[in-house]
Amino acid sequence: MIILGIETSCDETSASLVRAEKKDQKVELITNVVSSSLALHAKTGGIIPEIAAREQVKYIIPVIKKSIEGLKNPREEIDAIAVTTGPGLIGSLLVGVETAKTISYIWDKPIVPVNHLFGHIYANWIENGNSEKINFPVTALIVSGGHTDLVLIKNHREIVWLGGTRDDAAGEAFDKTGRILGLSYPAGPQIEKLASGIKKDVFNFPRPLIDSGEFDFSFSGLKTAVVRKAEEIGAKNLNEDVLKNISFSIQEAIFEVLIKKTITAAVKTHSRSIVLGGGVAANQTLRNKFEFKIENLKLKIPLFVPEKRLCTDNAAMIAAASFFNYKQEPWKNLTADPEAYFD
Ligand code: KG4
Ligand code: ZN
Repeated sequence: MIILGIETSCDETSASLVRAEKKDQKVELITNVVSSSLALHAKTGGIIPEIAAREQVKYIIPVIKKSIEGLKNPREEIDAIAVTTGPGLIGSLLVGVETAKTISYIWDKPIVPVNHLFGHIYANWIENGNSEKINFPVTALIVSGGHTDLVLIKNHREIVWLGGTRDDAAGEAFDKTGRILGLSYPAGPQIEKLASGIKKDVFNFPRPLIDSGEFDFSFSGLKTAVVRKAEEIGAKNLNEDVLKNISFSIQEAIFEVLIKKTITAAVKTHSRSIVLGGGVAANQTLRNKFEFKIENLKLKIPLFVPEKRLCTDNAAMIAAASFFNYKQEPWKNLTADPEAYFD
């Protein structure tokens, strides 16, 4: 079957076509068009919901058109529509949901509502030569700008939430500490770049809850620690070298907690695979450190990560999630739910 995915939960407008067959248990990517209003938000240091929603309205039709332009007869060839219904910003979500409902009605196609967080997980099942090797149970770490969650996927129908952040998400910790350092939004990729080549954790920022034995996270204290350190150093002394060292120490603090908790969860739940998802999973240092730790502990739990472009928000992951959790709804019943969680 061919599924048209639509994702508009935040500042990315995305539409994608995927092909998937029941017998294969994997999803093949046909197109994945992503238009981002990120540049506008870089100026304001964060996302302004109203601006994000307005940009969604501007781009949704061109993005969908582009995603299906290779099809001779989209109305005949597309079998279902998948759309993100939450969590996310209400104004942004509504643009995708209402557009998807309209297409479903006009083309008379089934529509599948998708939880954005499930989407980040299912980016791992988009064909990259590896997805067939993902064995259940799976421990999944979702690390994005809005979320940090650990979940146990017993099978495609049974997902159990293990823990999440009590305050800031991991991506948010990157963005907020980056802002203190004068970096533009989103700061994660810039911090990764600044940290590359540094070997020593000079600042040793706090790793809250690292030994709590539970799967909750807390990153807001890191922000305070970075503010204090920046004040102590003084704005005029925050040169390139200092920024590099602070960036490295921020990464170390965040990643040590993420890796320790994820691996502990995987061992405790007898998981046979670990998967990562969300924007922060695009970080190469995080990927390498995870691999290193798994090898170092001689664990036989392979790590899977999506292609980097499929870590950040995209509609292909939404289409993929709909395939593995195919629950179609009458279009009239679909509503955006900004607070949707794992339920
Ligand atoms: O998944 P995503 O695109 O959007 C949400 O659903 O939130 O994630 C965006 C987040 C931002 O906080 C951004 O700073 C972070 O992912 N991010 C990174 C990297 N690339 C994106 N964080 C660390 N290293 C990266 N390379
Ligand atoms: Zn996301």
